[in-house]
Amino acid sequence: MHDLITQIDKTRLPHHIAIIMDGNGRWAKNNGLPRIEGHRRGAEVVENITELSREIGIKYLTLYAFSKENWKRPAEEVHMLMALLYDFLVNKKDKMIRNGIRLNAIGDIFQLPEEVLKILNNTIAATAQGKEMVLTLALSYGARDEIIRAVKKLADDVIKNNVATDLLSEDYFGGFLDTKDMPDPDLIIRTSGENRISNFLLWQSAYAELKFIKPFWPEFNSEMFLSCLVDYQNRERRFGKTSEQLD
Ligand code: IPE
Ligand code: IPE
Ligand code: MG
Repeated sequence: MHDLITQIDKTRLPHHIAIIMDGNGRWAKNNGLPRIEGHRRGAEVVENITELSREIGIKYLTLYAFSKENWKRPAEEVHMLMALLYDFLVNKKDKMIRNGIRLNAIGDIFQLPEEVLKILNNTIAATAQGKEMVLTLALSYGARDEIIRAVKKLADDVIKNNVATDLLSEDYFGGFLDTKDMPDPDLIIRTSGENRISNFLLWQSAYAELKFIKPFWPEFNSEMFLSCLVDYQNRERRFGKTSEQLD
């Protein structure tokens, strides 16, 4: 791991890393455990990766924890995931404050059970002064849902303030998204070997570097995270330009 750390160029870190934490259920199944045990292990990995990200100097870490579509899972699994989220927020609040982590949430969070929403808002408020890193949890999050919610807010604004359609722009639209106060993700990692985005940050990922890796989320560790960073730094981000224009 230390060897990998020395390979990372601290001057070219991604500002924002987003992770699709997938494979908890399959990991549990492979180990003869109930799915919830995979989610429990997954929550421990969240803590490690959050810590490491802050230590390295990442400013924004966004974790896809529960999708809008995940509500369709069996009620028992949804219930246990909500209980796990509740415990995570209760138990990690002080540590987040100590470490300067500012908690943030994106998604249709009003769908969350009342007591989860309450502790979420409470933790967001309690960590609001954090300056080291913004940890964003995507909860009840679906990118198409986020876009439609943004369009509704935009339409209200246009009508209320009589905004000329000529003034509509990417920035103006982006200001209505849940991510309005964040830079776009530079790197999106997905664990578990699935090569898809599953309705995550569709608008914001326009120029993100994508990294799909085989291990299940409960197996994801510091070394794997660092090697994703090394891989990221070996890529050339051209944003439509030619290689020569970048020098
Ligand atoms: C990711 O693991 C966690 C959530 C989606 C909540 P999964 O629960 O999707 O695990 P697999 O993909 O079934 O293995
Ligand atoms: C994506 O994983 C959502 C999260 C990691 C929270 P899923 O397991 O829900 O995605 P699909 O259904 O395999 O695309
Ligand atoms: Mg999955």
